[in-house]
Amino acid sequence: MRRALVAGNWKMNGSRTAVSVLVDRLLSGIGDRETTEVAVCPPFPYLGMVAELLAGSGVALGGQNMCEVGGAGAYTGEVSAEMLRDLGCQYVILGHSERRTLYGETDQMVARKFDVASTAGLEAIVCVGELLDERQSGRTEQVVARQLDAILGSQAGVDGLANAVIAYEPVWAIGTGMTATPEQAQQVHAFIRQRIAAHNPQIAGGLRILYGGSVKAANAAELFGQPDIDGGLIGGAALQAEEFLAICRAAHTGR
Ligand code: 13P
Repeated sequence: MRRALVAGNWKMNGSRTAVSVLVDRLLSGIGDRETTEVAVCPPFPYLGMVAELLAGSGVALGGQNMCEVGGAGAYTGEVSAEMLRDLGCQYVILGHSERRTLYGETDQMVARKFDVASTAGLEAIVCVGELLDERQSGRTEQVVARQLDAILGSQAGVDGLANAVIAYEPVWAIGTGMTATPEQAQQVHAFIRQRIAAHNPQIAGGLRILYGGSVKAANAAELFGQPDIDGGLIGGAALQAEEFLAICRAAHTGR
């Protein structure tokens, strides 16, 4: 059985005070994490601080993005995979739709980042998902297949997915309050798993596929109850400790 993962993507939110209050509240309510793994992905400037606050808690840390070049060098404004590891990150979100649509990240850039993350020992949370007009014109699977195939065609390829996570985030559901129905999400999750199974059934069987897009305490259990939904990537609701904790509990009981 795949262990559920609930990861909070804090996006560009927080301050030193807000971050310490949020982590404090999370840690005091977190409870049993045996069946569900919990991770938080703060903005870069707070990673070190959050790493210290989380020490010994079992809650994992992740970055929200990283440079497509590994190592070190003249890349002003960038953060390397190795720096994320150095700060205690286990995960890194790659190819989030906000990176793709607002900052022009292409499938190839995401694939290069996937290689760099794999080499550095970071577990990538690779985001895929279609825009509203792509869904409405029946192209959901075509878009998700293209995004996945870039990862499968990277150097790390399907083997890299043995230590990675996929997040299906329909772009029309992100921050809109419009959640995919459990059936809509399950259909795409099953498609993702099948496409990867065509390369390596064992890796596909063990791969965690998270759903993201307006997940709330009220809809989490139903989503996480689907056979191919292994947890969630949570945006807005991850900034409210009680709501996020309730989502983590839903991953515990909903499966
Ligand atoms: P919301 O949960 O705010 O819709 O955001 C989802 C998301 O983008 C997580 O990466």
